[in-house]
Amino acid sequence: MLPRPASPEPLPTIYLDHGATSWPKPPEVVAAVSQALTEYGGNPGRGAYRMAIATSRLIHESRRDVAAFLGVSDAHNLLFSPSCTEALNLVLRGLLKPGDRVVACSMEHNAVARPLFDLSQLGIEVVLVDADSTGTIIAEEVETAVNAAPTRAVVCQHASNLTGTIQPIADLADIAHAAGALMLVDGAQAGGHLSVNLASLGADAWACSGHKGLLGPQGVGVLHLASDCNPTPLVTGGTGGGSSADETAPLVRPDRYEAGTPNTPGIAGLGAAVRFLATHAEQLRAEERRLVRRLHEGILDLPGFSVLGPDPSVPRVPIVSIVHDSIDVDRLAFALDKRWGIATRAGLHCAPWAHRTVGTLDAGALRLGIGYANTTDDIDVALVALATLAQEGS
Ligand SMILES: Cc1ncc(COP(=O)(O)O)c(C=O)c1O
Repeated sequence: MLPRPASPEPLPTIYLDHGATSWPKPPEVVAAVSQALTEYGGNPGRGAYRMAIATSRLIHESRRDVAAFLGVSDAHNLLFSPSCTEALNLVLRGLLKPGDRVVACSMEHNAVARPLFDLSQLGIEVVLVDADSTGTIIAEEVETAVNAAPTRAVVCQHASNLTGTIQPIADLADIAHAAGALMLVDGAQAGGHLSVNLASLGADAWACSGHKGLLGPQGVGVLHLASDCNPTPLVTGGTGGGSSADETAPLVRPDRYEAGTPNTPGIAGLGAAVRFLATHAEQLRAEERRLVRRLHEGILDLPGFSVLGPDPSVPRVPIVSIVHDSIDVDRLAFALDKRWGIATRAGLHCAPWAHRTVGTLDAGALRLGIGYANTTDDIDVALVALATLAQEGS
């Protein structure tokens, strides 16, 4: 048999898919997950032995630190969920009833759009307000829609996973509250990348992924509910603490919304992640902004490419999505990965409403998502790679 050729050195990965999930995780996060698996094996709230109590304490500390990082004064209102998607489902399905009217933004991710579609089949009226061509929702247009008829809730993302656009959430919350409506926010792309203070933002419910800008492990989402915002729980069953004999789920928070054994390693990792962010966030965000601008302006100089969303002078979360006038986005992503080791994401980004809004529903877009660990070199290699592909053409 012929000797097999030695396999080529694998290309190091240049990770530019932070919009999907952050990678690598800070070493503190990896250590906390590992420690939870090796030292905190007890089931929190379900035993009185030392290890179970230590696990409960660990979850309490993560909740306290995530709450503090997000400006939440009462940590009982900060809930852990398996994902941002599930938290959003809880909020929408648990609050909206047949006959209600909801005003939503045309940039929403499917984590909002699909539950809203399901609810529309049950007699809930969903009114979509179109964002402009940069993906920005105009507060006055939301105000007009809200005031056209009695409205139960305004639903809007904090930032777009397609264009990086930051939405005017505080203004929308004022508009919603002036009309007696709730303000429900999908914060998946905002947490960690933007300075979020939930005490002053005005959202009645704000959901976020733990694994994107918050730098935690996958499998944990975060939901903040204002004290007077009480959706019906999506899931009931066993919870920690007492009252096991009751047939109904507990009313106290967080137990009411955290049925089942929690993801202790994930929650431990998220706690470590926000402690890391609490120390470094300002510096990391400044660096993300610098890299986004370098990438954005660099791409605008390349032939055939255009960048979705606002122009480079407008703040955005660190997402730069692009299209080329003759090269298919899937081909770009494939070549970037194969030839330069650059991980990006192509296609429709689980947000068909958003693609329709910015005119990319047919062709999709190539998304480059920047995160805390990226360097100037990463951006420059990506720019050289895109320039090469543009030169080679379709
Ligand atoms: C804007 C937005 N909302 C919601 C989600 C859903 O988050 P998760 O997959 O963590 O549940 C995502 C994930 O990409 C997102 O970008």
